[in-house]
Amino acid sequence: MTSKKRIGILTSGGDCAGLNATIRAVVHAATEKGWEVIGIEDGTAGLIDRPMRYKNLTKQMFDTTVMRLGGTILGTTNKGNPFQFPMPDGTLKDRSDEIVAGLKELGIEALIGIGGDGSMAILRKLSDNGKRFNLVCIPKTIDNDVGNTESSVGFDTALYVATEALDRLQPTAASHDRVMILEVMGRDAGNIALSTGIAGGADVILLPEITYSLDKVADKIKRVREEEGRNFALVVVSEAAKTAEGEGLKVEHHGGEKRYGGIGHYLGERLAAKTGCETRVTVLGHVQRGSSPIPSDRVLAAAFGVHAVDLVQQGKFDRMVAWSNRRVIDVPIEEAIASYQAVDVNGPLVHTARLLGICLGD
Ligand code: F6P
Repeated sequence: MTSKKRIGILTSGGDCAGLNATIRAVVHAATEKGWEVIGIEDGTAGLIDRPMRYKNLTKQMFDTTVMRLGGTILGTTNKGNPFQFPMPDGTLKDRSDEIVAGLKELGIEALIGIGGDGSMAILRKLSDNGKRFNLVCIPKTIDNDVGNTESSVGFDTALYVATEALDRLQPTAASHDRVMILEVMGRDAGNIALSTGIAGGADVILLPEITYSLDKVADKIKRVREEEGRNFALVVVSEAAKTAEGEGLKVEHHGGEKRYGGIGHYLGERLAAKTGCETRVTVLGHVQRGSSPIPSDRVLAAAFGVHAVDLVQQGKFDRMVAWSNRRVIDVPIEEAIASYQAVDVNGPLVHTARLLGICLGD
């Protein structure tokens, strides 16, 4: 081990665009300040395995290509909560002590965790609210549902990808006189759906936050044809929007794990029957996560990464970096986790959608 002080960094939870740009910013700023950076692999899983899985991250490794890449060079996981870690014999074991011991063994003085609200909650619990190790978090998620920050790394790129999908669906919808339904991700928050629908000129946006009526959606589609003289319609639906019966649709994956899915096809069948229109469904899925980050995500990643290192340098821990009023600030991790940020049904974007004539189904 060298005599330099060490920062650990990991990515945790679902990946998104901009993670590598964030890691790169941390490595550059930390090196500038004389720290060594240890990249832990696959979230906290890299600290559970023995030998531990990690790599020394140097500025030289982050040439100009890495910041442009999607995914995360460190790997990540949205499974394996260390407090209930699945063991090969099928039991669940609390492996939190092994993680804390791993950080100590590596001589890490502060950990920078890049994650969404779930990952941040786990990291904070692992640190015993900052008592067991020093923690700084950087918010990332395509869902943009982390509180106390206007934006999280990855959201803008997901929005760009989803809007581009609508741009591509519009001409084929017009050519074939069809209703096109685009199902987007976002978990329990409709942030991607709402912004995509506004940016991509949707006629209908359906969100988990607003209860809709199938008849009202069908009426809107009929009005587009009969009153506006348009032969096609674009519908954006959030994966967590409920059925007319109030049920969230999920798909069971191998191992019994359930994830949102199915609402697009549910709507497609029913709207075709109610309107008589030919309807097609596109489920955008992980395409929203895998892209090269767009410029605004790169700028956010850079500013967040640098500020996180500033916090470590100042000895200011248990904080999350955040974007507010065109500046990077930092807030207590606890408060950010507690103020989950779904769509504000009385907020400016819902108002904007309504005044643009977009049907929200209510
Ligand atoms: O939280 C990010 C996210 O992409 C959600 O929008 C989506 O519901 C979920 O992760 C998908 O998870 P997985 O990658 O496990 O399919």
